[in-house]
Amino acid sequence: MKIHVLGAAAGGGFPQWNCNCPNCDGVRTGRIQARPRTQSSIAASADDTHWALFNASPDILQQIREFPALQPGRGLRDTGIAAIVLIDAQIDHTTGLYMLREHTRRHPLWCTPQVREDLTRGNPILPLLEHYCGVDWHTLPLGDRFSIDTVPGLRFEALPLLSNAPPYSPHRDRPEPGDNIGVTLIDAASTRRVFYAPGLGQMEASVWAAMQAADVVLVDGTLWTDDEMIRLGASQKTSRAMGHLPQSGPDGMIEWLDKLPATTRKILIHINNTNPILDEASPQHAELARHGIEVAYDGMSIVV
Ligand code: MLT
Ligand code: MN
Ligand code: ZN
Repeated sequence: MKIHVLGAAAGGGFPQWNCNCPNCDGVRTGRIQARPRTQSSIAASADDTHWALFNASPDILQQIREFPALQPGRGLRDTGIAAIVLIDAQIDHTTGLYMLREHTRRHPLWCTPQVREDLTRGNPILPLLEHYCGVDWHTLPLGDRFSIDTVPGLRFEALPLLSNAPPYSPHRDRPEPGDNIGVTLIDAASTRRVFYAPGLGQMEASVWAAMQAADVVLVDGTLWTDDEMIRLGASQKTSRAMGHLPQSGPDGMIEWLDKLPATTRKILIHINNTNPILDEASPQHAELARHGIEVAYDGMSIVV
């Protein structure tokens, strides 16, 4: 299977439009060694033709312009996006649905009932889309292996995980199973597995088992330290309170990734613009390299 990273940044992107943090300012002025990144999305395919879009980012139009496989090729109106899977209902993962409204068919959309609820009430994207192409909602099953008929050659296993629900969710700060998921993508022919979880706030046994079973983990790289946003004066919340395991420190993501086999490919994704790992000359970036951990970037192609 092939995974194409459409956007490797967290909400806000990098640089963020109103942010003057050392990273955002540094990438604008060219003072730091870093590449801009768009907001959080990947595409996956087993045949290079039918792609499952994981999350619909506010930057989807730019992401499609930069990835020909998703562009029209077979008819007057056409797309390589064969299905859309949402891992939560956050703005950075769903706003792109508006930009896909010109589709000539209903989009097959896979998400949990909790995510569908948030996109029906708190942020009513789905009823609004009924005025355009609409979506065909499929309940994303938790725990059981499933396939998506429009995306041949891939199988999926989703599991609930602890992160946070969006501000417009009735479960904000009290997330329920189904508000956030991680997904294992399985190549049906080779049985090779990728575990994808851009929002991962706590390492539960089920999540850890899925990571251990994967050939590639593509996991939460939002913040380096738990108090990163507080120290910058950008937020009152810790990384963990926002539903993101920080990379450094005890029980941080690096500690967990270190326990995986050396053969597992370890990649951080959903990187917040404040995170020092974005500066390729930073000591934090070097520390990741010493641990064999990669940092996802827009356009990264992962062949599994
Ligand atoms: C998050 O994962 O916490 C989001 O990136 C928040 C957002 O999109 O504003
Ligand atoms: Mn996010
Ligand atoms: Zn910034």
